Amino acid sequence: MEIVINLAYLYSATSFILGLKFMGNTQKAKSGNLFAATGMLVAIIATSYLVINQDPKVENIIILILVLLIGTVVGRYMSKKVEMTAMPQLVSLFNALGGLSAFIISLNELVINFNNDLTIIFKTVVISGIVLGGASFTGSIIAFYKLSGKFNKGNPKLLKRVSQMLLIVIMILSISIITTPDFTISSVITIVLISLFSLFYGVLFSLPIGGADMPVLISLLNAITGIATIFSGIVFNNPIMIVGGVLVGSTGIILTIQMCKAMNRSLKNILFGVQKGAINTSNDTEIEVQQTSTVEVSSLLAFSKKIAVIPGYGMAVAQAQQACYELQKKLIERGAELTYIIHPVAGRMPGHMNVLLAEANIDYRYIKDMVDVNDAMEQFDVAIIIGANDVVNPAAETDVNSIIYGMPIIKAYKAKQVIMMKRGMATGYSGAINPLFGRSNCKILFGDAKESLVKINDELKNI
Ligand code: TAP
Repeated sequence: MEIVINLAYLYSATSFILGLKFMGNTQKAKSGNLFAATGMLVAIIATSYLVINQDPKVENIIILILVLLIGTVVGRYMSKKVEMTAMPQLVSLFNALGGLSAFIISLNELVINFNNDLTIIFKTVVISGIVLGGASFTGSIIAFYKLSGKFNKGNPKLLKRVSQMLLIVIMILSISIITTPDFTISSVITIVLISLFSLFYGVLFSLPIGGADMPVLISLLNAITGIATIFSGIVFNNPIMIVGGVLVGSTGIILTIQMCKAMNRSLKNILFGVQKGAINTSNDTEIEVQQTSTVEVSSLLAFSKKIAVIPGYGMAVAQAQQACYELQKKLIERGAELTYIIHPVAGRMPGHMNVLLAEANIDYRYIKDMVDVNDAMEQFDVAIIIGANDVVNPAAETDVNSIIYGMPIIKAYKAKQVIMMKRGMATGYSGAINPLFGRSNCKILFGDAKESLVKINDELKNI
């Protein structure tokens, strides 16, 4: 039977890798998801068989079935019910559950082996699982609330200092327990302290990181959960858990590096540094703006040759992607050249805009990364900004006091004419004031992005 289990795990591992590969392409993304899901199903069946075979007690089987049933029902309910705009929060919640599992598994292994003669390697692995799993669990819960728009950071400098000190305490306690030859009652206290401090560390670690740095926090927490899962896999001697952990951990690390590049910030600076700059939380910025109408925008688009479309979080809120596709069809029929320009941190989760555009069947050949077009932005007759704000904010280049100063942006302001679609004068996620609103080549089309696009599409029929 062992060979069948190993073959099942090999199938799962291959499916996870193929799933990841396919998810890098919009046309194949759905099959990628399906691949990864079947891989997970096979891994669950194989592991359930192993568990039942190793300890065939009725109560264990009942618990296993109950847990699988609850997980399936809750997972299906959430995937059906949760709004597209709440997807980033859901991903954070799932990440938190991964961390919690690694935390519980590691703690449980330490408790049940408490009186055994434990090797230093075993203790290192379980303590690492407790620390990383615990921190990732509570850190992801904080990220969940931050993505939901709750929690404004308090005093980031103080929080960062306290979290650094707590990390040092956790490390000292961990080394002391790993090097203790025999566990005593004081070891119990140390383990409890490590567990509690790790949970608390996750909160302190996530709280001060916010605003435009959120993408880095999210990808870093993904990486930490992946690494914690590797430790759980080693404890259980379970190859598929190790493979899963390696994939999540390594992709999380790659994503963290990419997000740091996208923000032009070093990881050290985000984790330990203190960001300068003012946050404007008011919706009424004092900038004088030029307002436009759907009639004016449709005639502008109808007679433009080179058009840039810059989507942002507001497109996800408005669910405007399908209307955007309709606009694309109309403009291309009229002979315009249309390019979607994507900023790496647009929206609220990595690849957010690509997912939305793929959902509307927008062909990848029209989609360009910011770095590929930024130098030629002045060639565009119009840049139409659909619910983006921070990612086109020129303060990132010009205002040293802005919270987003230094972050690379899509240089939409260089286009001959800029149209911003938004509902009011609200700032973006970072809270930074956007001087683009007041530029002479920028007009604002107030209203929900989807409603505005539908109206523009209608107007275009008459031109
Ligand atoms: P934001 O800067 O957040 O701006 C979104 C804009 O959309 C707002 O100005 C809002 O203005 C507008 N909006 C909202 N609903 C709308 C609707 N129904 N119709 C039209 N407009 C609407 O978005 P962005 O430019 O995509 O930048 C993303 C920001 O989020 C960055 O600061 C990034 O660091 C951060 N972040 C990113 C991630 C990832 S991983 N991508 C994760 C967390 C945070 P009104 O309310 O006035 O309409």
